[in-house]
Amino acid sequence: MRIDSIHARSIFDTRGKPTIETTLQGSTLKAVASVPSGKSTGSHEALELRDPDGGVATAIANVEGEIARALCARDFSSPEEIDQALIALDGTANKSRLGANAILSVSIAAMRLAGLEAGVPLWSAISARAGTTPAAPRLYVNVMNGGVHADFRLPFQEYILVVEGLTSAALPIAHAAFDKLGERLGDVPMGDEGGYAPTFSALDEPFEMLDALVAEFPGTSIAIDAAASELYRDGRYHLLDKSFAPDELAQVYRDIVTRFPMHSIEDPFAEDAASDFTALTASIGQQVIIVGDDLTVTNPARIETAIEKKEINAVLIKPNQIGTVSEALRAVQMTHAAGWATVCSHRSGETHDTFIADFAYGVGAHGIKAGGLGQRERLEKFERLVAIENELLRK
Ligand code: PGA
Ligand code: ZN
Repeated sequence: MRIDSIHARSIFDTRGKPTIETTLQGSTLKAVASVPSGKSTGSHEALELRDPDGGVATAIANVEGEIARALCARDFSSPEEIDQALIALDGTANKSRLGANAILSVSIAAMRLAGLEAGVPLWSAISARAGTTPAAPRLYVNVMNGGVHADFRLPFQEYILVVEGLTSAALPIAHAAFDKLGERLGDVPMGDEGGYAPTFSALDEPFEMLDALVAEFPGTSIAIDAAASELYRDGRYHLLDKSFAPDELAQVYRDIVTRFPMHSIEDPFAEDAASDFTALTASIGQQVIIVGDDLTVTNPARIETAIEKKEINAVLIKPNQIGTVSEALRAVQMTHAAGWATVCSHRSGETHDTFIADFAYGVGAHGIKAGGLGQRERLEKFERLVAIENELLRK
C-alpha cells in the first residue's frame, strides 16, 4: 500500500460539533473516513484532541502535517503496519499528542483503502484481517434516550430493543416496534441518539412499556446502558429523586432481570467499581449479558484485567476509545477468545460514516449499537448492514 497524499477537514457531527474527516489518496484509489465523538466518555479512553474552542484545527494540522510526512510515499504491507506507524509516531499511551480522533480517521481510511485496493468489501477485508467469520449482529436499537443524552429525562442512558435475526428481517421489525412505541409515547422530544426522550417518574415505567412491546414483537428483548459513571457521586448512584448504595443498585438490577425480558445490561456501575461488576456478573451473569463500556474502553489491557477478574461477560467495542482499527480488532479477538460476546458501537455524536456496520458484521459481533431510528446517521448504519447481507448473498 502506498499513500500519495492526505487531506483532512472539519465537518459537523449530529450534535453540531466539529469532527474530523480524512481522505487518503492511494496510488490509484482514494478512501474517506470520519470519526464520531462520545459524550458519556470514560476517563480511561484515548484522548480526543480538541482546541480550546471545541474545534479540531490542531487535529487536522496533525493529520496534514506530521502524519502525512510520516506516511506518504512509503510502502506499507498492510493497514496494521500503518496503524503501528501511527502509534509509534504519537508515542503516548493514550494518543494524546496527535489525538485519537486524528489517528483513527487515518486508520479507518487506511483499512477502507486496503479493501478497495484488494477489490473486496470493507467487512470482508476486516474479517480477513481479524480471522473472524462474518455474521449478522443483533440490532441494539436505542428506542428511549435518557441520562446525559437527554438531560436526564430518564435515569438510565439507553433503553434498547434488541432484535434477533438477519438484519433484512430484523430491521422492518425494529421500525414497526419503534413506530408503535412512538404512538404510545405521543409528542415527546428526540434524544441525542435518535430515540424518544420521554419523562417518567418511576424506575419501572420504561421497562413496563418495553415489556409490552417485546410481547407484541417476537424475537425482541430489552437491553439497557445504565452508563452508571454518570450517575455516581460521593459513593452513591443517583436515579430520579433517590440515591442507591452499590449493593442497593445491584438489587435494582436483579429485580429488573427477574421481572422483565432482559438481554443485557451495560455499565451497571461506575468505571472504576470493578469489584461491583464482578459481584453482579457472578449473581446474574447466567441470565443476562453484562457489558463493559467505560469499564474496559476497548483497551486490550483493561479487557485482560476484566477477563482475569470475571468483571463482565461481554465487551462494548468502540474504535475511537482506543484510536486505531488494529487495536480495536485485538480487543475483539481477546474478548472472543475468552468466550465472551462483543457489542460494536457508534458514539452519541455521529457522522454519515458507516464503518462500524462493516466492523460489526466483519467480526461477527453479538450485537451492534447504532442508536434509534429517528436520525438519518443512525439509520444509515442499520441500512448498511442490510446492504452487506445482500453482498454476502451474491457471493
Ligand atoms: P457516548 O455514549 O457515545 O456519549 O459515550 C454511548 C455509550 O455510553 O455507550
Ligand atoms: Zn455505554
